[in-house]
Amino acid sequence: MGDKVKTAHSRILAIETSCDETAAAIVEDGVRILSNVIASQVDLHAQFGGVFPEVASRKHIEVIYAVIEQALAQAYLGLDDLDGIAVTQGPGLVGSLLVGMNAAKGLALGRNKPLLGINHIEGHIYSLWLTEDAPAIEFPLLTLVVSGGHTDLYLMTDHGRYQHLGSTLDDAAGEAFDKVGRLLGLPYPGGPAIDEAARSGNPTSFKFPRAVMDDGYNFSFSGLKTAVLRQTKKYRPDKMPVADLAASFQAAVVDVLVAKTVLAAEQYGVTAVHLAGGVSANSALCAAMKAALQIPVRYPPPILCTDNAAMIGAAAHWHFVNGRRHSLDLDVVPSLQLI
Ligand code: KG4
Ligand code: ZN
Repeated sequence: MGDKVKTAHSRILAIETSCDETAAAIVEDGVRILSNVIASQVDLHAQFGGVFPEVASRKHIEVIYAVIEQALAQAYLGLDDLDGIAVTQGPGLVGSLLVGMNAAKGLALGRNKPLLGINHIEGHIYSLWLTEDAPAIEFPLLTLVVSGGHTDLYLMTDHGRYQHLGSTLDDAAGEAFDKVGRLLGLPYPGGPAIDEAARSGNPTSFKFPRAVMDDGYNFSFSGLKTAVLRQTKKYRPDKMPVADLAASFQAAVVDVLVAKTVLAAEQYGVTAVHLAGGVSANSALCAAMKAALQIPVRYPPPILCTDNAAMIGAAAHWHFVNGRRHSLDLDVVPSLQLI
């Protein structure tokens, strides 16, 4: 994409409603957060032990306009000050995506602003450009996207240029954390709860399988989840060694993610490794990845690891300055692929 991108300016309102966070943010030049509002539905879904799609879409409808107004107010901006409206087009829950898409289209039509549909995964990737490390980022780099729905390893050779190296063959890393959290009787979402419980546990207590298949850079976590299930059945719920199980499970996930990423970093000679997505908030993953690599390992601050709209605004900048625009016929794509 080159120099044009580096010098061009944009001020974008971004909207993200792909799952259970209603979020709006204003991002300048793809690197500066002017506001970042996130209304999380986590408490609402905790009673179901996971995201209840219909409940999620209804909640998005209730709060979306207040969230957008707050994002504008916090940035001291009006709609006329914006260069464009970006919105998550997919992947995500269809009903949830539709709420954000319709709000974005309404604003784009009403104020005659360009509309940009953004891939949620690309948003996670661009969350790194919102950190203080942004000026140091160089290509090629490796991005490991680990979230509730995805585990994907990408070689990124320039802005918007990706080579998909591998992904999970079954459960996503975050999904495995959430399922194992439930098995251990921890609150939803399981990821942060396991991260916390594991701090007082012994990661070598249980020998859980590491599915380091010969299958290139693909991952698999369902066997690990089943192994944890088998262990938990050996205990009465009140006698379960939760901290040790959590630490041993987490160590198995981290080992596999680190082993494959290190292999790819060596094979492709990258300048840095980026972690993105909800699971990149995991303290053990970040620490192990840093310890295993001699090149910079970067990950966003926790608030930008999990779903937010600022990352959508950051990704949108690169599309905006390259002249990409969508028509108001743009539709959501629940299984949208990055490449
Ligand atoms: O990126 P995200 O907010 O939503 C998706 O796009 O899926 O990721 C949510 C996932 C959940 O599965 C959650 O359990 C996991 O990220 N997560 C964590 C941690 N914080 C969030 N997993 C492990 N350790 C954490 N500290
Ligand atoms: Zn996400």
